[in-house]
Amino acid sequence: MQKSYLYDVVIIGSGAAGLTLALHLPSRYRIALLSKDSLSAGSTYGAQGGVAAVLNEIEDSFEQHTEDTLIAGAGLCKKQAVDYIVKNGQESIHWLIDQGVPFTANKQATSSEKEYHLTKEGGHSARRIIHAADATGKAISDTLVQSVRKQHNIDIYEHHIAIDLITSGKFGVSNNSCLGAYALDCKTGNIHNFLSGDTILASGGASKAYLYTSNTDGATGDGIAMAWRAGCRVANMEFNQFHPTCLYHPNAKSFLISEAVRGEGGRLLLPNGQRFMPSFDQRAELAPRDIVARAIDHEMKRLGADCLFLDISHKPDSFIKSHFPTIFERCLSFGIDISREPIPIVPAAHYTCGGIVTQCNGATDLNNLFAVGECAFTGLHGANRLASNSLLECLVMAQSAAKTIERQPGSLSQAPSIPQWDESRVTDSDEDVVISHNWDELRRFMWNYVGIVRTDKRLQRALNRITLLQAEIHEFYSNYKVSSDLIELRNLAKVSELIIRCAMSRKESRGLHYSLDYPYCNKQAEDSILVPEPIKRFSDG
Ligand code: FAD
Ligand code: SIN
Repeated sequence: MQKSYLYDVVIIGSGAAGLTLALHLPSRYRIALLSKDSLSAGSTYGAQGGVAAVLNEIEDSFEQHTEDTLIAGAGLCKKQAVDYIVKNGQESIHWLIDQGVPFTANKQATSSEKEYHLTKEGGHSARRIIHAADATGKAISDTLVQSVRKQHNIDIYEHHIAIDLITSGKFGVSNNSCLGAYALDCKTGNIHNFLSGDTILASGGASKAYLYTSNTDGATGDGIAMAWRAGCRVANMEFNQFHPTCLYHPNAKSFLISEAVRGEGGRLLLPNGQRFMPSFDQRAELAPRDIVARAIDHEMKRLGADCLFLDISHKPDSFIKSHFPTIFERCLSFGIDISREPIPIVPAAHYTCGGIVTQCNGATDLNNLFAVGECAFTGLHGANRLASNSLLECLVMAQSAAKTIERQPGSLSQAPSIPQWDESRVTDSDEDVVISHNWDELRRFMWNYVGIVRTDKRLQRALNRITLLQAEIHEFYSNYKVSSDLIELRNLAKVSELIIRCAMSRKESRGLHYSLDYPYCNKQAEDSILVPEPIKRFSDG
């Protein structure tokens, strides 16, 4: 049976961004927290390296963290966003500590006050990454999920996938606002209206658009696609970050080898055991990710190699096992003892730097719609994200959005009456296999044509294919009942189109976007901002 729920705030996504936001809103607010899977599924849970923040002001400073972020971002970071997020990092970390996140202590600390171990990653000029061994995301997620489950004002809807936002503009109201979302209960198949004064997209990134990725299956860019369809601008989608080191093994799906392994002395090697990064960049293994991933891609293509290697075996066994227990155990389960031998690695799609255009408080182009976390484009990352700045952004921006919502809460008092989702003209699909075929095809051509190295011709090929696929998906969507697979495929196709269109508009190579046709960087750095067509009202047909 279809239902209409009414809340003060609806949050779509339960990663670091969604959980932090839910916990920062006053307890008088009635909140619905939706996750298309269990609460802990998503990129947050898999985060390894840690959270970047200036926590040791003797050896580090806000200026240095800002500078490192700007350098990695290759001219496209928004200084205002960088300053805001960097300066508010400490407070967010202290909040996590107060919540009970078990960060790794510094064993060498001399003062009586508890100190935390800080690690280093590519592009950082100081040790500033606080972590819980190599499973920081799990520690954060477990702690925040526990807190959220205790809150009486938060209703949790696991296995509920948001399909589309509900906007007043579609019902003829001139001042377009977000009124909530339609969501499919994946267990019962019912579609419900979740109506709210404010709606928050905290739905993560879109790296599943690529065949090889460090992300879990749900990283299908749902929030970005929904916001676009609702009339929000989307920017810089061409900047897909490829993480240089994912485990290469036929049975290892999406397993990351943290950049902290390189931060703690790991070396990248060719199949013959030779080191190669020093000849690409003087920062060698600790150059920003775009440079390291491109160097690996270059060497793999030059040698026709299936993978390269990352070696930390020169460090003592006890160091490896205490700093990287998860990586050690996982590699061992595949027969690789990282304390004795190098780890086979390949680059894989990891992070979506672009997203829904937001202000410094998470506000989007649509009234009463906020976006936080990986789905948002705040301007922090520019053309390439600095390692461990993502969780930081989730935390700081969620807190900022919560403050804004508290100051100016949305209200549904003027809202038009919202009809239930109409399924009267669709039937059950008898050909679900088409969905998985389309999904495979899309991820393969995105990897081949819109990957680490691009050309105009490859991008045009990708655009032709995505146009055909979208026509097929549209037909499917119009004629059959929605399923979570179909919803995700539709979104993945939309964000892939946005990635391709942003990539085609960039006539230069900058940060994560590298084109053989334009190998230089333009003097003027400009964002690629896509503007959706005005939304059609229902009465327009
Ligand atoms: P996620 O944590 O991805 O959560 C998205 C949520 O949205 C999920 O709950 C999902 O179920 C829900 N959702 C999505 N679509 C819908 C829908 N349609 N309806 C309902 N719910 C929906 N960053 C760092 O800063 N440091 C690190 O060490 C680090 N390590 C990483 C390691 C790995 C393996 C990966 C993949 C990423 C890593 N990152 C790291 C990046 C960082 O983890 C992510 O960018 C960040 O966790 C994103 O958080 P989020 O809350 O925006 O989204
Ligand atoms: C890692 O541990 O290498 C991931 C860090 C990040 O993506 O920021």
